[in-house]
Parts: sequence; C-alpha cells; structure tokens
Amino acid sequence: MKRIIVAIDGLSSCGKSTLAKSLAKSLHYAYLDSGAMYRAVTLYFLENNIDYENPEAVADALQHIEIHFERIDGQNRTFLNGRDVEHDIREMSVNDHVSPVSALSAVRRAMVAQQQAMGKRRQIVSDGRDIGTVVFPDAELKIYLLADADVRTSRRHLELASKGIDGEWEDIQRNLLERDRIDSSRADSPLRKADDAVVIDNTLLSEEQQLEKALELARIKLQE
Ligand code: DC
Repeated sequence: MKRIIVAIDGLSSCGKSTLAKSLAKSLHYAYLDSGAMYRAVTLYFLENNIDYENPEAVADALQHIEIHFERIDGQNRTFLNGRDVEHDIREMSVNDHVSPVSALSAVRRAMVAQQQAMGKRRQIVSDGRDIGTVVFPDAELKIYLLADADVRTSRRHLELASKGIDGEWEDIQRNLLERDRIDSSRADSPLRKADDAVVIDNTLLSEEQQLEKALELARIKLQE
C-alpha cells in the first residue's frame, strides 16, 4: 500500500485540526499538530519568563525544551518536558504570544526539524501554516483550507468554551485577525498556499462534508 503525507494549511481556526484528525483516523495515519508545538514553546517562554526578543535567551531556552505527543484514550496530547500541556497551550495568554514566538527563525528551525523527523515514514496527516510549503514540500496531498472570519471566530469560541476556557467573542476575533496578519506577513515561512495545494472553502460545509472531500482526494493520491 502506498504511504502518503497529507499537508493541511490555512488561517487560524479554519477547521484544519478537525479535518486533520478525522482524516488521520479514517486513513489510520498519525496526526501531527504542528501548531501545538509552537504553542508549547510559547508556554515554556511565558512560564520561564524568557524574553523572546533576546536571541541568546531563545537559543538557550530551546536547548531545554522537549516536546512529544502521546495518544491517551484516543486523544492526541502534547507533552512539554514530560508534562501534559494539552489544556494549557490553548489558553488565551498563549494565543496572545504564539504568533510572534512562531515568527522567530530559531524556533522554526528547531520545530521543523522535529516535524520532518516525525514524517520520515510518511503515513502522517499534519496541519499548520507552512506544512505544504516548508515542512513537507513533497507531500502527496496538500490542502489549503479557507473559511469566513466570523465563522472561524464562532468555531474558536465554541472550541474554547468546550474546554472550559472563557473568552469574549470580540476578543477572540481580534486575536484571530491579528494572528492571521502576523502569520501571513512574517519573513520566515509565512502562511501561503502551495502552488500544488487544493483549495477547500469549508464556510458552508459540515465536518462530514469536508472530510468526504478530503478523503476523495486522498484516495486518488493513494491509487496514483
Ligand atoms: O494552528 P494553531 O492555531 O494551533 O497555531 C498556533 C500558532 O502557531 C499560529 O498562530 C501560528 C503558529 N504556527 C506556525 O507558525 N506554523 C505552523 N506550522 C503551525 C502553527
């Protein structure tokens, strides 16, 4: 059986992780949540008062960060230096700092190297901002997801509420649009659609409908 990599990129809260998780499950592939890694680095910087505008402090801190994923009760969980931080990395304080942190080249180099190692055996679905362009430019299937900004805000609002994290709709939208701006305009690996990515706009699609579309594309790639 052919083994492929599926790369999903798009703006914040456009449904990438929902699609990536369900696609990974359907294909019996691993799921690599690259955003969780940038979030874990950000959490480490915040908890340890690392001035991330100081390159030496960042380089030193990166030496002390170990991130890995574990599947517990069917759920993907992110570990930072042996501690389960899956909940903490979704807090608003991390949301507020993760874009400037993930714009740092030293941080990106360290994360991309780990992500590429995790994708060595292929059979992986990964989502993020630079997966199809930088991390896995040779991915067999690249999807660029789009969704309307109000729909994305409502989805993030619901997601946070379901995790017991409070947030005003307006604050969530402000944070989302600001992250869109930084993630798309940074010098190192800005979010952009890979030339060979397929665009799916899921504004009016249910989760099942977007999964069906992606599965159809994956099946074609598996048979090629
Ligand atoms: O997908 P997310 O919202 O969990 O990602 C959090 C932040 O991490 C996002 O604002 C930008 C950054 N990110 C990145 O720069 N590159 C990736 N491949 C994934 C995420």
